[in-house]
Amino acid sequence: MSTLEELRRQALTCTRCPLAAGRTQVVFGVGDPRAELMFVGEGPGREEDLQGEPFVGRSGKLLDTLMRQEMGMDRSQCYITNCVLCRPPGNRDPLPAEIDACRPHLMAKMELLEPRVVVTLGNFATRLLLETTEGIRKLRGRAYPYRSGRLVPTYHPAAALRGGAEVVAEMRADFVRAKRLLEQVRG
Ligand code: URA
Repeated sequence: MSTLEELRRQALTCTRCPLAAGRTQVVFGVGDPRAELMFVGEGPGREEDLQGEPFVGRSGKLLDTLMRQEMGMDRSQCYITNCVLCRPPGNRDPLPAEIDACRPHLMAKMELLEPRVVVTLGNFATRLLLETTEGIRKLRGRAYPYRSGRLVPTYHPAAALRGGAEVVAEMRADFVRAKRLLEQVRG
């Protein structure tokens, strides 16, 4: 099996979809290669495209805060990646064909890390991994079986930044749910 570093090297030259043409760099993912917890977002924004790391902008600050406050963890203790590894122009939504083209990169990481808990951030990651067209509002609030572990859907942090206190409170509850599941699998 490939290592994460080998997967990264392959992804860095990926031209499977048109997003490759507009990227500054591939935003492969960041964190512990042995992590039991994985976060999956939507796709890199401007800051991420420039810095080459997922969730380093405003959304990322909220992600870091919730992780710290509700789970007592930081990003070095989990793995963070996105549905698409290259920035959609103007921060538009990733297209179905782009998500599909990028899916093998995500699934290869799943196979390698086999995380016990996956937290999907927003509609794109949740719909992709749960193979549903249902919206995040309906899907969040519980955990789902996923591969050898569990999947906890929650809002995208950008939605929480727009939606205010109520959305943030629901995200907090989802992070606590993920933490409890991690504690369970760790015994
Ligand atoms: N939004 C995402 O979905 N992913 C990032 O990496 C940054 C913002």
